[in-house]
Amino acid sequence: MTRIFSGIKPTGHLTLGNYLGAVRRWVKTDQHRADALFCVVDLHALTEDHDLARVRRLSRQAASLLLAAGLDPTVCTVFVQSHVDEHTRLAYVLECTATDGEMRRMIQYREKEAQERARGRSVRLSLLTYPVLMAADILAYGTDEVPVGDDQAQHVELTRDLAVRFNQRYGHTFTVPRAVHPEVGARVMNLQEPGSKMGKSDDAGPGIVYLLDEPDVIRKKVMRAVTDSGREVEYDRGARPGVANLLDILAGCTGEEPSVLAEGYDSYGALKKDTAEAVVEALRPLRQRHAELCTDLGYVDGVLRAGAERARGLARPTVDAAYRAIGLLPAG
Ligand code: AMP
Ligand code: TRP
Repeated sequence: MTRIFSGIKPTGHLTLGNYLGAVRRWVKTDQHRADALFCVVDLHALTEDHDLARVRRLSRQAASLLLAAGLDPTVCTVFVQSHVDEHTRLAYVLECTATDGEMRRMIQYREKEAQERARGRSVRLSLLTYPVLMAADILAYGTDEVPVGDDQAQHVELTRDLAVRFNQRYGHTFTVPRAVHPEVGARVMNLQEPGSKMGKSDDAGPGIVYLLDEPDVIRKKVMRAVTDSGREVEYDRGARPGVANLLDILAGCTGEEPSVLAEGYDSYGALKKDTAEAVVEALRPLRQRHAELCTDLGYVDGVLRAGAERARGLARPTVDAAYRAIGLLPAG
């Protein structure tokens, strides 16, 4: 059976980008067609300045939101990364497979490193080694497919390189995974800056739709989205990024084609209105289930406990095999 693994960082509240780029397909298809594991990758949240209580709170919230979005713990495995030691155990061995230059070439590292320096902060070593931990997350489970947004393509490519290199040097140990991206919504852009990704951010984010935003807040954010000069509704990501982003979002919520949707509009206002309503409707059931789950945190914690136990059992033999393959003396 195909093995699927994906993860989400508890560094901020989950956004519409997370939903359309990743979570929606985990819920609708991935969990039903494969043995799928979905992980709240909390160790990755420690790579930048972090607030201890916030990471803890956001980890539980991310897990609750994944369940509220429709991940079904009777068909897939949902867990928290730090509950399963195998990830860091394997990361070390992969650090001995990767090179310093390879890490420094990662786009996300270069962007975040520049950001941290611009803010006068020091750069944590874990920010540099982060893609290796991500590779460990994936390789520990013999993963075939990694469903992620476009921004993670380079990290999955690195994971493939490390798997191939390790297998060549030390004997076949890892399955070589591949990234899969959604056809629509693989890169949802910030509504105020259609040139940059809609990422989790610390501010209120007028250009970021959070999954738990109230319907009226969502409407306001979408109606105020920056569009392009010109009037025609055309799907052209290069020339009209703002309008294309709205069409992508509408398409992501309705399951239709962005270029086909474009033909049905002759004003930006009408497009914004329909997009806002489509987003509100797509997120409505999620908000409701999330509110219910918040009254039953014991249930959420139970799901995470069982998930971690299953994950441990799956990862252990692969990580043990990697330790043996690389030449370490097995514990007697
Ligand atoms: P992160 O929030 O960085 O942990 O990302 C979790 C998942 O959501 C990954 O698969 C990302 O590729 C995806 N994702 C995050 N932001 C976006 C976005 N703006 N558009 C599409 N996918 C996204
Ligand atoms: N790096 C990913 C992100 O920023 C999160 C992540 C960590 C991940 N480990 C993973 C995604 C393993 C897929 C598989 O979005």
